[in-house]
Amino acid sequence: MARIFSLFLALVIASASVAAPVEQRQVGDLSCNIDRFKIVTGLISAGSAIGKIDTTDPDTATAVAAAQAGLKAAGDSIKDIALALVTGKTAPADARTGVSQGLNDTRSALDSITNTAVSDSVAAAQSKVQAAIDDGNDVIADCK
Ligand SMILES: *[C@@H]1O[C@H](CO)[C@@H](O)[C@H](O)[C@H]1NC(C)=O
Repeated sequence: MARIFSLFLALVIASASVAAPVEQRQVGDLSCNIDRFKIVTGLISAGSAIGKIDTTDPDTATAVAAAQAGLKAAGDSIKDIALALVTGKTAPADARTGVSQGLNDTRSALDSITNTAVSDSVAAAQSKVQAAIDDGNDVIADCK
């Protein structure tokens, strides 16, 4: 996740210093880049919150593993988008779906946890995942 984060930092810095037409490079405007930055930090927070869930209970462990897999899939899709943007290519069309799908899978996995012993840490993780989903929706709204 740290690699994705630095990639996005590079992207934001690059987009600020590049003179090429914005539309052509798909780098987006300032609010768009802030949204992109937020979804990356949001994914990192969500990953950290999910990591705090006690996985002693096997069902919880399975759900947490699924939640982490969804988060990784979302992160990989974000990496694909970031790589396309920094190399001046068009972002792959299915990458946004990949981000959305990964976050949805993460949310469903967390929602499936019924172990009341971990409900506080699950609730904390759910709110981080929801924040990342909201950030993703902002990206779609602001990055034309
Ligand atoms: C993720 O969930 C939202 C809200 O339920 C839905 O609108 C969206 O289409 C889902 N994304 C994917 C890729 O299924």
